[in-house]
Amino acid sequence: MSVCRAEPGVEKRIDALLGQMTLDEKILLVHGDSYFSAAGVSRLGIPARVMSDGPHGVREETGPHNWNSQNRADDYVTALPVASCLAATWNVDLARQAGEMLGREARARGRDILLMPGMNIVRTPLGGRNFEYLGEDPLLAGAIATAQVQGLQSQDVAASIKHFALNEQENQRMSINVEVDERALREIYLLPFEMCVRDGKALTVMGAYNKFRGQHACHNDYLLNQILKNEWGFTGLVMSDWGGTHDTRQAALNGLDLEMGTEKPYEQYFLSRAYRDAIERGELPTAGLDDKARRNLRVMFQTKMFEPDRKTGTLNTPDNRRVARRVAEEGIVLLKNDSDVLPLDGTKLKTIAVIGENATRPHAAGGFSSGVKAFREITPLEGIVQVVGKQVNVIHSPGYRKGADPSLEALALEAARKADVVIFCGGLAKEAGFDSETRDRSDMKMPWGQDDLIRKIIGVNPRTVVVLQGTIMDVEAWADAVPAIVHMWYGGSEGGVALANVLFGKVNPSGKLPMTFPRRLADSPPHALGAKAYPGVDGTVNYAEGLLVGYRWFDTKRIEPRFPFGHGLSYTSFAYANATITGSGTDIELSFDLTNTGSVAGAEVAQVYVRPVDSPVERLTQELKAFRKVSLAPGETKRVSVKLDSRAFAHYDPAAKAWVVAPSRFDIAVGGSSRGARLSATHSIEPSSR
Ligand code: BGC
Repeated sequence: MSVCRAEPGVEKRIDALLGQMTLDEKILLVHGDSYFSAAGVSRLGIPARVMSDGPHGVREETGPHNWNSQNRADDYVTALPVASCLAATWNVDLARQAGEMLGREARARGRDILLMPGMNIVRTPLGGRNFEYLGEDPLLAGAIATAQVQGLQSQDVAASIKHFALNEQENQRMSINVEVDERALREIYLLPFEMCVRDGKALTVMGAYNKFRGQHACHNDYLLNQILKNEWGFTGLVMSDWGGTHDTRQAALNGLDLEMGTEKPYEQYFLSRAYRDAIERGELPTAGLDDKARRNLRVMFQTKMFEPDRKTGTLNTPDNRRVARRVAEEGIVLLKNDSDVLPLDGTKLKTIAVIGENATRPHAAGGFSSGVKAFREITPLEGIVQVVGKQVNVIHSPGYRKGADPSLEALALEAARKADVVIFCGGLAKEAGFDSETRDRSDMKMPWGQDDLIRKIIGVNPRTVVVLQGTIMDVEAWADAVPAIVHMWYGGSEGGVALANVLFGKVNPSGKLPMTFPRRLADSPPHALGAKAYPGVDGTVNYAEGLLVGYRWFDTKRIEPRFPFGHGLSYTSFAYANATITGSGTDIELSFDLTNTGSVAGAEVAQVYVRPVDSPVERLTQELKAFRKVSLAPGETKRVSVKLDSRAFAHYDPAAKAWVVAPSRFDIAVGGSSRGARLSATHSIEPSSR
């Protein structure tokens, strides 16, 4: 991994600018002057910077000095599916395209910084922002986020990777103190950020609201100065989360470079007048402010804000929508498909009953800061009508609504009885208490009486396909009784068409779960460990499961999940054969043949899990160390190669303060799911070959 170094020419230009700036002008650069901008210095030709949320599209115009919508007609955008759907694609090329698409739209909306991607770890199924993050595995999250950052920044827009770090819950998010051991910190929670900084060359980092080891993350010396800047060599700027700054001295000294969103007049921000006065009194060093100003200017140069040839972007183009649709299609996970109920054959059906309020409910605007004003949002019902409406009679019945209405249920059952097949569209919503910022969910259940309704529908029409929108949910009440379950997350602008394309076989599903679906909440790690592990006691949450996050817990504790990490079915089948390892020590290449043995084209996500066999230190049952999504025509075989370097075998050694490879024998398993090893190989690392 190489570290981002700004060009010497740029540093000279920054020196020249800093040399001409007054103390007040430097102070202007390090705090916001509206809800989503920071001032420039017009006297010196330094422009203001404009930023915007977020991971799913460029947020609508608000403010400038409040959160209110400006009700404009020119801020409609393409809505990407939510981040968990992007992670479910396991497709880094597509993630890069998604980043480029967001970059094009950000530039067309005049943005300099986009506040994304979010890569906190899905630690509890109840996390209110799980939909905004990239799953429970740090390597998958880091690889997808890195590609997105590279794509976004290729359009001359800076990414603000967030929330650094340990913002895994929404409950008490502004104040909760997180305690986590050093190995879990490095190997699980920081790894995606490290990848984005080193490989993605992310230009900005957003701090988190919570505290870590007693100090707020937005001015946490260990996280920002010692790890991010000193160890990882980060040369960009750290901004606060909105309202995440609490103290001038800590902000000045502990690595914060840009204060945003404090609920005070701008001159009363912690990095405003109070900071200037402290410097003037000699209580805080000028060099610290110079470094912050330099980092702010550097990001401006790196996004070409001073150049005439900066990219200008595009908005709502067919190309941009095509990217959104591919992400929606490739992120759909076929969880269950007994007796090949799917794909449906539109030519053999007379009537389809689409049941459920989720079939018609738009979601793009919901969820809070990551909500977008979508230029269009095709719902599941619209998508189904668009794809088969000409040949099949499609009837819709909401079946449930908030506050459960029994007459809706009766109508839905009548519709189900009449239909050849039922497509039940249910799940959650991007609303407070479900998939939304500021609050976690209170349980894993599907709301509004859906469990009962699904059971009754199966009673009158067993040919029922359940389509889920949302994140992790409890499906135990009916999962064994329905033949097919499809998980579509929240599909963005093109979600409905993507769904219909999968249901009717125009697209072969290839998504894989980026998070484990437990059978019950108590099976998942923080919930098995009591209130201290979640939601916390006396203001502190202790990540007592340590390294055992997500499937690492389920595998080590031998708990059967409902659907394991990495799971996802296809309309075709794949065979793995002839594994070989070339190279030696900590630098090897694993190769194998992957064949599409079915009769339709499809894509498989080959997942490589490494299992230390006789390690002298505590190691987990298995961990994802590489993956590759491969498209194959029917009957086609491809030889697939993946590289495994020292990080695939290393653990973080807190005593040595370094990643260390302990000599050991490793089993390397390859397959289409964390519980679906199809091939394995053994590799030994001898003391001498480290
Ligand atoms: C969120 C951030 C977001 C910011 C600006 C905060 O509440 O945590 O993710 O970027 O608001 O809207």
